Amino acid sequence: MELAIRHRRLRKDENIRRMVRETYVNVNNLMFPLFVLEGKGIKKEVVSMPGVYQYSLDMLYYEIEKTIKLKIPAVLLFGVPQQKDEFGTQAYNPEGVIQRALRGIKNRFPEILLAADVCLCGYTSHGHCGIADEHGKIENDSSVKLLVDSALSYVQAGADIIAPSDMMDGRIGEIRKALEKNRYHDTVIMSYSAKYASAFYGPFRDAACSAPAFGDRKTYQMDCSNIKEAFREVRNDIEEGADIIMVKPALPYLDVVHAVSDFFDVPVAAYSVSGEYSMLKSAALNGWINEKAAVLETITSIKRAGANIIITYYAQQIAQWLKEI
Ligand code: PBG
Repeated sequence: MELAIRHRRLRKDENIRRMVRETYVNVNNLMFPLFVLEGKGIKKEVVSMPGVYQYSLDMLYYEIEKTIKLKIPAVLLFGVPQQKDEFGTQAYNPEGVIQRALRGIKNRFPEILLAADVCLCGYTSHGHCGIADEHGKIENDSSVKLLVDSALSYVQAGADIIAPSDMMDGRIGEIRKALEKNRYHDTVIMSYSAKYASAFYGPFRDAACSAPAFGDRKTYQMDCSNIKEAFREVRNDIEEGADIIMVKPALPYLDVVHAVSDFFDVPVAAYSVSGEYSMLKSAALNGWINEKAAVLETITSIKRAGANIIITYYAQQIAQWLKEI
């Protein structure tokens, strides 16, 4: 009884709750993903992600401005090219959609950090994250070469952070080597280290137009049953030169976020992915949950689990809500 009363004393009113609260989400923890298309004057809503858009570069600038005003420190850019081919050529074309976006934003808004996702799935005609051989098997080493070319061209175009999400083996080491060789000593690598083969990426594949035309990603992304494997991936990536490691998705893998952030001494990012967004958004649009309360609770849980950086499609909305609290 006495114990129960002690618990209550610390929950009695908002002032005391504020004082003893263990976890605060801060705008500084947020990273905002954005999709950029070719063309002009385009702001196209992603059907499976209401409130998330694909932007042509001219329209993207307004979003970047808004993101800066909200004091969000970084954006994560995904390119949605018009042309795709077997080799994902547009991923490493210096005049590609993402390279032009990086240059344009860097020139106009040097104050925001630019992270660029590195992967071939948005650029290959078959939608896989690497190059496929004649049997549809994804070739690791030739894919890594193209990923290195992509990463270098993003850094040349102005990316501050390189975020490889392809899950090919050895790509972090090869990218780091190429960066050093080209004297990009300051480029941060944020590696999607523990990236699970997840059903929660479904809506993203609408947003990035990157659904695989055959098979699935289980031969290179992780099995949801495994956590030791996450440790191996993370350890490898740190040894190969990653500065920040990522666990993805976030919510179904909070145990992984927690274990990894406890064990390793590098910053941990957690990606609250498209399916997590769509679940919350669709329930909110139906009036089935209180959106603000549910989103802030979710994001607090991700931080409590140990993530320093939280990548979320709700970043602008969260930043706005945090200002109002
Ligand atoms: C590219 C990539 C994916 C996501 C980020 N980078 C999709 C995938 O691997 O299928 C998912 C992001 C999300 O669902 O929000 N490989």
